[in-house]
Amino acid sequence: MYNQEQNRDAVLARCRKQLPKADMREPLARAAAGKGLLHIVSVLLMLMTMIRSTFALLTTPPQLSNQRHSLTSRAANESFPLECVQVAPPIMSPTGGCQQTLMVHTFAASYGQPFIGTYSPPDCEFNRITFNLIVTSAGRQFDRLALMFFDDTEIFRTSTAEPTRDGIIWTYNKDMSSYLSMFKKPQKIVFDLGNLMDDTYTGSWNTTLAATFFTAEDTIEPADVVIPVSARRSAENAPSGFVVPGSKAVNDLVLPRNAKKAVFSISACGQAAEEFWWSNVLTSDTQVFGNHTTLYGHSPFRELQLVIDGYLAGVSWPFPVIFTGGIVPGFWRPIVGIDAFDLREDEIDITPFIPLLSDNQSHTFEIQVAGIDDDGRGNEYITTNIESNWIVTGKVFVWLDSNISSTTGTLPSVSASVPTIHLHSATQHTVNGTVASLDYSIEVSRNLYIESTLHTSAGTKNVSWKQDLTFSNSGTLSNKGNDQIMRQTTTGSHLSSSGYSRTYEYPLWVISSINEPPGGNLTIDAKMGRGKYVQELGDLAYPNDWKTFDYTRLPSTLYGKPTFSGSNVNNWQNGTASYLSVPAQKRSYGSGSTEQLLSLSGITDGPVAVVQDGTHNAAMHMAQQRGEELYRRRMVATNGSVVVDVESFGGQVREKSTYVAANQEYNDGGVHEFAMEGVRALLGRGAYAMMRWR
Ligand SMILES: *[C@@H]1O[C@H](CO)[C@@H](O)[C@H](O)[C@H]1NC(C)=O
Ligand SMILES: *[C@@H]1O[C@H](CO)[C@@H](O)[C@H](O)[C@H]1NC(C)=O
Ligand SMILES: *[C@@H]1O[C@H](CO)[C@@H](O)[C@H](O)[C@H]1NC(C)=O
Ligand SMILES: *[C@@H]1O[C@H](CO)[C@@H](O)[C@H](O)[C@H]1NC(C)=O
Ligand SMILES: *[C@@H]1O[C@H](CO)[C@@H](O)[C@H](O)[C@H]1NC(C)=O
Ligand SMILES: *[C@@H]1O[C@H](CO)[C@@H](O)[C@H](O)[C@H]1NC(C)=O
Ligand SMILES: *[C@@H]1O[C@H](CO)[C@@H](O)[C@H](O)[C@H]1NC(C)=O
Ligand SMILES: *[C@@H]1O[C@H](CO)[C@@H](O)[C@H](O)[C@H]1NC(C)=O
Ligand SMILES: *[C@@H]1O[C@H](CO)[C@@H](O)[C@H](O)[C@H]1NC(C)=O
Ligand SMILES: *[C@@H]1O[C@H](CO)[C@@H](O)[C@H](O)[C@H]1NC(C)=O
Repeated sequence: MYNQEQNRDAVLARCRKQLPKADMREPLARAAAGKGLLHIVSVLLMLMTMIRSTFALLTTPPQLSNQRHSLTSRAANESFPLECVQVAPPIMSPTGGCQQTLMVHTFAASYGQPFIGTYSPPDCEFNRITFNLIVTSAGRQFDRLALMFFDDTEIFRTSTAEPTRDGIIWTYNKDMSSYLSMFKKPQKIVFDLGNLMDDTYTGSWNTTLAATFFTAEDTIEPADVVIPVSARRSAENAPSGFVVPGSKAVNDLVLPRNAKKAVFSISACGQAAEEFWWSNVLTSDTQVFGNHTTLYGHSPFRELQLVIDGYLAGVSWPFPVIFTGGIVPGFWRPIVGIDAFDLREDEIDITPFIPLLSDNQSHTFEIQVAGIDDDGRGNEYITTNIESNWIVTGKVFVWLDSNISSTTGTLPSVSASVPTIHLHSATQHTVNGTVASLDYSIEVSRNLYIESTLHTSAGTKNVSWKQDLTFSNSGTLSNKGNDQIMRQTTTGSHLSSSGYSRTYEYPLWVISSINEPPGGNLTIDAKMGRGKYVQELGDLAYPNDWKTFDYTRLPSTLYGKPTFSGSNVNNWQNGTASYLSVPAQKRSYGSGSTEQLLSLSGITDGPVAVVQDGTHNAAMHMAQQRGEELYRRRMVATNGSVVVDVESFGGQVREKSTYVAANQEYNDGGVHEFAMEGVRALLGRGAYAMMRWR
């Protein structure tokens, strides 16, 4: 392992003083207040996410000759920065053509100093836009959160990988077509990536953000108007995220009178004391290991609620994003956590509220972040009084009916049950009476149904939005709270009368153990597994994944662009990682292995004829099969190097073995470089094969 010149005491001291992300003050003040030390697991989880250079890099590539798909490992050196990656399906974005650079900026001491720029629409026709963000960094730095706004509207939320001494680089491409109406007008760009630097924390962020504009035969129907729910601070050249619960995420909005469809999207993530919300315990158990060890409470359940004029209009049960310093940094280099470079937003169809909202009067839109409190005697309730903090914004996407001046209808009928909550906790005691372990569990379910009747120029119809959600989390804490095992699952089904549906499952388990043997060393050993399995039919504000997929990379495009009614995206990561701090050497070390499997499949309606004669190629076969795989990628990284990387398009495997240079696109190859898999091999490879693999 590599020495990382990392002094734990300096890191700890640093973390207590620093304000690395928005509003770290509150929990740090609490930690410093001496009322009792925060629970060490929580503290370390929080610190870990901020430790930057704790990761060891191998100087020699690992030997994995038994791997058929192994490749020359990639590790950073002075001339080649380490390439970090968020595994995601490649999106359609033609090279050349109409492009515009939106930002070239170094975020150094950038806390409270966002990049401010201007956007003017390009001189070309377009109905699609993609972003390409390239970031480099070298030195030591924490992971950082970034929010990008057009005026007061958040359009992109990302976070950073933690740099190495020799440097890292990553590229992320994102389809932005949902914001087409905004890209047709000039905008002020506010890109906020708060960073702090000093003698120890030396990494700054060199960023280049470019937009590509093009025209696609389109199945994407972007909204006509996008209205933010945000702190609305762009006039002061400031970012517009709300910090909840310190402030209320609320705006009074006047909507266009002639809306025919309206969708609300929520962008939110926990930071500081709320970053590891999924590892929290029941409020009644926070002191279970004694009053010198305070665990984070309000339960491991979080719900984002959209409240319109006091009515619950829908909820989002968040995907547990883990940033690149999270748990143990060794998990996340160079493969970052699911969604770390692109924090996705959940959508709520608020079309049933249109009759209420089309009166040209102002209406209150509030996003609340809720947890669960309990008194340990069987009384539990949803609370918005959680720790600090969540960074929250929202948007209303509106589609207009140009044939009428105002939409009418009935007021929405909202039936939202109070969530069903089951809590359990029990402690085991040692012979002398101290608590040896805490077992806890929580189960929550909720159903919500909203409908109204809408009169538009297309006639009268009943519109509805339905959500059925379940959540479970159970865990055990032992060794004075230093060891934790937790397992969580969030499942949901969202259904709109427009034909849109989203069903999903987010499993997560973490086993972590912190040890402080006499002498001052500190070790953290952890294992984790997590998934994001989403089946989406149709779309609301954001295009379905099959529509933005780069189908030109399929083995043959002879039959044109494949058309689907929806997609399955199955995404799984698991790994093992360790961290060791040796104060006597003023060093810390890290190691780890992470494995990831992602697949994207298109879903076709109804039964399909399977081609039997064997004369047709895989692309045609694929287009005709129900739930056919478009893209799959499997990666394994060990101790900072990628050791396995197998990618397949439409069932044809391509191994990534030719890395030209770390700052260039890898050699993409052509169809001739594909190893053709037999059609037989494609059969039976259903979209849920990965579910079983898990
Ligand atoms: C740096 O890494 C690249 C790619 O792995 C390799 O080709 C090159 O030889 C390395 N250079 C040094 C100085 O180690
Ligand atoms: C960032 O940009 C500066 C100025 O161009 C350059 O000196 C530095 O080497 C860059 N850092 C990285 C990590 O690319
Ligand atoms: C902490 O626990 C000790 C021993 O049980 C007790 O004497 C003390 O009052 C407690 N302090 C607080 C603040 O609860
Ligand atoms: C909406 O209200 C504003 C201010 O009250 C008024 O100026 C405007 O004419 C109204 N628009 C419509 C379409 O009624
Ligand atoms: C307006 O009406 C025309 C003719 O009925 C129809 O083709 C068009 O789709 C309608 N536009 C909207 C926005 O509903
Ligand atoms: C109680 O026992 C545990 C181990 O069984 C030990 O670690 C702890 O120090 C003991 N506490 C007291 C107050 O004796
Ligand atoms: C809408 O729902 C109402 C009440 O359930 C029903 O009476 C009516 O027929 C429905 N209208 C349409 C257009 O489906
Ligand atoms: C701390 O860990 C280092 C590295 O493993 C080891 O050499 C050292 O002996 C440990 N120190 C103590 C006090 O255990
Ligand atoms: C991930 O899980 C699989 C299946 O349990 C296991 O074989 C593999 O070793 C794990 N990978 C890592 C890096 O922990
Ligand atoms: C990764 O580093 C750890 C710690 O040095 C080591 O035990 C392990 O063997 C390394 N893994 C590989 C595949 O080299």
